[in-house]
Amino acid sequence: MEWNAELYRDAHSFVWNHGQSLLSVLDPQSGEDILDVGCGTGELTREIADHGATVTGVDKSAAMIAAAKDRFPGVVFRVEDATALPFEGEFDAVFSNAALHWVREPEAAARSIARALRPGGRFVAECGGFGNVAALERAFSVALRENAGSSFRSPWYFPKLGEYASLLERVGFEVSAASLFDRPTLLAGHNGLRDWYRMFLSDWFDVLDVDTIERVIRTAEKLCEDRYRDGSWTADYRRLRVVARRR
Ligand code: BEZ
Repeated sequence: MEWNAELYRDAHSFVWNHGQSLLSVLDPQSGEDILDVGCGTGELTREIADHGATVTGVDKSAAMIAAAKDRFPGVVFRVEDATALPFEGEFDAVFSNAALHWVREPEAAARSIARALRPGGRFVAECGGFGNVAALERAFSVALRENAGSSFRSPWYFPKLGEYASLLERVGFEVSAASLFDRPTLLAGHNGLRDWYRMFLSDWFDVLDVDTIERVIRTAEKLCEDRYRDGSWTADYRRLRVVARRR
């Protein structure tokens, strides 16, 4: 997917605002080497650096990395694919917030992350878990079929807890904590839902004409109207959070 880094940074600050609690689980220490996988526009990467850690932020999107470098010139950012990280036993910790559900080869990513860690190094991650944004996906799927005659195929990987913990164990991690929990997420403002669709399902909008896009979005909004209250939308986010160590 081609990312619009500006729209992401300006309208989706909830992504890294919600990442604060994961940062406290990471508990970065001064002098540690930390890798942030799927760093986006770099806000949490910079916070890790503020703790005195030496941090590298990586993202597959060149647009995101360009925006991160521009905003935080003192932090190291690189374009890298999570499934083929070029690191061998270099990091004390790998952190990842709201990124791994985009990776369609989760085992390759987990192996690559394990390889990047020193033995005993920790992996602290959160991504969409099983059932994440199911209502938003369902509404979009119906709206797409009705207005464009197209079938929706989810671009995301939202694993069950046991499935992901087993995957991590298979590639050499010991999992010390895993939880799957609802985290209803406010999409602020009247345009919150349409901005979310435009941001995260942008591939669809590249292939449809303007009128069809508008009809798809309006139908999806109608189907989600029970999620609209007091001028904002609430998305049905479910998070999968894991803490693991490389054996
Ligand atoms: C998430 O953070 O759960 C998410 C973000 C964008 C699209 C799908 C899921």
